[in-house]
Amino acid sequence: MRTVAILANKGGTGKTSLTLGLASAAAHRGLSVLVVDLDPQGNATSILRSTVGATSVGDVLARPTKATIEQAIAPCEWDASIGEIDVLPSHPNIIRFDAWKGSGTLGKVKKALASIEGYDLAIIDCPPSLGALTREALTAAQRAIIVTTPTYFGAQGVQRALEEIVEIQQGVNPDLVLTGVVMNKVRSASDEHDFRVAEMVELVGAKNLLKPTMPERIAFQQAEGTGTPIQALGTLGSREVAKILDAYLDKVLR
Ligand SMILES: Nc1ncnc2c1ncn2[C@@H]1O[C@H](COP(=O)(O)OP(=O)(O)O)[C@@H](O)[C@H]1O
Ligand SMILES: [Mg+2]
Repeated sequence: MRTVAILANKGGTGKTSLTLGLASAAAHRGLSVLVVDLDPQGNATSILRSTVGATSVGDVLARPTKATIEQAIAPCEWDASIGEIDVLPSHPNIIRFDAWKGSGTLGKVKKALASIEGYDLAIIDCPPSLGALTREALTAAQRAIIVTTPTYFGAQGVQRALEEIVEIQQGVNPDLVLTGVVMNKVRSASDEHDFRVAEMVELVGAKNLLKPTMPERIAFQQAEGTGTPIQALGTLGSREVAKILDAYLDKVLR
């Protein structure tokens, strides 16, 4: 199973949108996908599930056994025609696991994920911080994607996230590879955004900025609002986004 962590130390950059977009892109290809929602806000969970179960990723963090994770995993309620996506749901109480207690405590999600079978891809949606939950995700993953936006503070956030990835690589997870940085919500014909994209290339190197960049498209809000995979909208914008998601997925699976 390939496991990818989607992270950023800010909210609203598009982590959840990218998580769900990659999940449905992979399901369309016939892959079995598990979305792991490590954000206490649980946005991915509420988009994928209308019913709340009694067991969540919080139980897995407390007791990372095969029995717990199997009990917590639930099928997603999106139209089944898109393929198989299951979700390891979040719970607001997982915020208590975000306090950093040292690297000796890491590895719970990794252990639980290693105990299950039948998935080709696990996508971990991280909280908007670089605390213990994001470190759990980076410990469990072989791939990481940093999501940012073309803003002044975007570059700073990416710098911090890169440092975090290096620390995990040098410590608990030498197998972790940066798939790249996704520059999201990019406006065409904006000098400011062109400048921020160029700044990011300078910061991370051309090969680490995933191409193409992701344009700002209303399709993301439409998908969210209607509870459908973005690929199912069938609009011009959604088709454009779907193509880009496919290109990102190729890199995650490589
Ligand atoms: N490329 C995009 N174009 C337009 N809106 C977007 C794009 N990506 C994300 N959004 C919107 O931005 C908001 C925040 O995205 P979200 O994925 O929830 O961010 P995060 O999980 O990082 O907090 C959502 O309303 C989402 O629909
Ligand atoms: Mg989110």
